[in-house]
Amino acid sequence: MKFFIDTANLDQIREAQELGVLDGVTTNPSLMAKEGIGGKENILNHYKKICEIVDGDVSAEAISTDFAGIIKEGEELAALHPQIVVKVPVIKDGIKAIKYFSEKNIKTNCTLVFSAGQALLAAKAGATYVSPFIGRLDDNSTDGIELIGQIVDMYNYYDFDTQVLAASIRHTMHIIKCVEMGADVATCPLDAILGLLKHPLTDIGIKTFIEDYKKHN
Ligand code: G3P
Repeated sequence: MKFFIDTANLDQIREAQELGVLDGVTTNPSLMAKEGIGGKENILNHYKKICEIVDGDVSAEAISTDFAGIIKEGEELAALHPQIVVKVPVIKDGIKAIKYFSEKNIKTNCTLVFSAGQALLAAKAGATYVSPFIGRLDDNSTDGIELIGQIVDMYNYYDFDTQVLAASIRHTMHIIKCVEMGADVATCPLDAILGLLKHPLTDIGIKTFIEDYKKHN
């Protein structure tokens, strides 16, 4: 499974990259705003900086909701750097735009997916990634992990190339459950990635080994 980090924070992206297990980055307008990044030029420059830190795919979101606007924004984003993946919402004009981009070999991430039907249309349009938001489903008393399983099964059954990118991940168990479901990618906050390392028995074991080593050294 690929690991993406879900942030626009450059320090956190560097930290995850230095860990050596990072395969890419996802961002969204809210994550950009959280870092205080605003204005078209600043936003585009920020995407370039992210691409310079990591080796893999970097999702950059189009804000437009009409076909012409999404195409204009997406082409501009894609021209920024070969690692850019254009993030497009799963709406009618978004699906048309994903089809257009797939014919132009521009990678896409179909975002704000909350149902198997939306994921089906994204795959048929040729999306590179589909992003089901599992945390936000859980927030609304619906099992986000179950949706991941449904989409993985559907894509396997029909041999779709679209990769399932589990998004809106909030904690380590979301990641483990996504692995069990066979998600292709999990995009996670840094805390959730580092949280995978945590185990009290590991800490106790290290402490004991160091103490025992010191007995005769
Ligand atoms: O990848 C999508 C993600 O950024 C949304 O996460 O926590 O705002 O639901 P959240």
